[in-house]
Formats: sequence, C-alpha cells, structure tokens
Amino acid sequence: MIEINNLTVIYPDGTKAVDNISFTAGGGESIALVGANGAGKTSLLLSLVGVIPIHSGTVTADGTALNKKTLNEIRRKIGMVFQNPDDQLFMPMIVDDVAFGPRNYGCSEAEVKERVDATLQALGITHLRDKSSLKLSGGEKRMAAVATVLAMDPSAVIFDEPTAFLDPKARRHLIGVLNGLPHSKLIATHDLTFAQEVCSRVIVIKNGRIFADGEPKEILHDVKLMEEGGLEAINAHLHYHVHENGGPGHYHMHDY
Ligand SMILES: Nc1ncnc2c1ncn2[C@@H]1O[C@H](COP(=O)(O)OP(=O)(O)O)[C@@H](O)[C@H]1O
Ligand SMILES: [Mg+2]
Repeated sequence: MIEINNLTVIYPDGTKAVDNISFTAGGGESIALVGANGAGKTSLLLSLVGVIPIHSGTVTADGTALNKKTLNEIRRKIGMVFQNPDDQLFMPMIVDDVAFGPRNYGCSEAEVKERVDATLQALGITHLRDKSSLKLSGGEKRMAAVATVLAMDPSAVIFDEPTAFLDPKARRHLIGVLNGLPHSKLIATHDLTFAQEVCSRVIVIKNGRIFADGEPKEILHDVKLMEEGGLEAINAHLHYHVHENGGPGHYHMHDY
C-alpha cells in the first residue's frame, strides 16, 4: 500500500515537476500514470523511492513514512523498474544483478540463490543467468531489470515506461508477466493500449497535477479528456473484428 499525500517535487532550478498530488495505491491494484512528455510522471515515481527529494507532502509505504532514516526500508517495500534498464543492470552477469539486492540486504547465500532461481524461473529467463546485460536485447534487458526488483520481494512495484525499447513480442510477454504479478503496481506509460490491458485504474497527470482518475475504459477512450491531457485517446469509434473464417490479417473495420 502506497499513500501519497499533497506531494510536491521541485527541482533545484525551481521547476515544480509534481504539484500537490494525493492518491493511494494498494491491495494489488494496478494503476497507470499517463500524461504528455514533461507532465511529471518520472519525477513522481523517482520521489517515491527517494531518488529525488520531496519538497513537501508525505509518502507512506505499508505504514512507513518516507524520510532519510526509512529510505532503505521504503526501497525494500517499493521496487522501481527504471525507464532505462542500463541504469539497473551493472554487474558482469545477470545472475549477479538479480542477487545484488537480496545480498545487500543481508540474505544468506542459500536464500540469495533460492530467490534468484525462483525469480529467473518465474520470468522465464533462466537462460539469461550467466549472460552480460551488454549482450541482451531490449526485451531481455527489461525482464532482467524486472527480476532485480522482484528478487527483493517488494510489496509494490513502480515502472517507468516499461514498454520502451520493446518489440511487439517482448511487449506481449511483459503484459503477461505484469498481469500475473500480485503486487500493487504503479506504471508510468505512454502506451495506452498497454495501460488498458494491465491496469484497472488510470490517473492522467497534467502539469504535475492529477487531471483525471478513473477506469481505463472511461478515461482512455475519452477523446476530449485525453486531448486536454496532451494525449491521443485509444480510437473509440473504430472496432476491429477478426473475420470468423478468415486467417490472421483479415479484419472488418466498422466505423460508427
Ligand atoms: N533534473 C531536472 N531538473 C530540472 N527540471 C527537470 C529535471 N528533470 C525533469 N525536469 C522537469 O520536470 C518536469 C517533469 O518532467 P518528468 O518528470 O520527466 O515528466 P514525464 O516523465 O511525465 O515526461 C518537466 O518540466 C521537466 O522538464
Ligand atoms: Mg518520464
């Protein structure tokens, strides 16, 4: 459970990137944070795990308030998958990256091994175990980065643009993985059809504030609302149906 109350983030140059945002994410809920470039999504996520400081307001994870003293504790509860996997993978082999967090938090070597094995298995990437991240595809890097976070056994996971750098197949794999995770999730994304498939709630951020908050089917198809939020609605008036007796690639397009 993450509780965000009147959160404001201001950069040293005076830019107010997050402006008095409040909401709660919990109970395995999956929330998409959408909004135009520069809306404040990344700043919001980074402030939740203390990568950038909070100017005012509070962040609480499972009852623990974020401050200098609780930073390590918060980072065990809230795992963050960064936009660029290269920021998360820095060891010679993937197995070392995934082991890094649990080892750092004092798990026994037996437990570290157990967690690494279980996480790689759950994500279907045991074959990447001894590889260097330098040799991986975008999709493989993304999964490895997700593994480093899940190995910490967080209660909530936050993702910044997780479909960036992914081809359609890797994107599809990620959707399956995320829909199988029991964690509370907060996902900043430009990919609105992805948000629709993975999230049960959408929050539109505009100029650092919450502009709209509701169900994906209501928000993401609302042409006017999405336009005002600097986005393009999922095309609500076009419906594609696979031809009953047609193979892949045979579509009817209904315009109404
Ligand atoms: N390090 C920084 N210093 C100053 N301003 C920043 C910095 N990083 C981001 N910003 C500004 O903060 C605002 C929000 O940016 P960001 O959180 O990256 O938005 P988003 O992830 O929604 O694209 C933008 O105006 C951006 O220019
Ligand atoms: Mg961003």
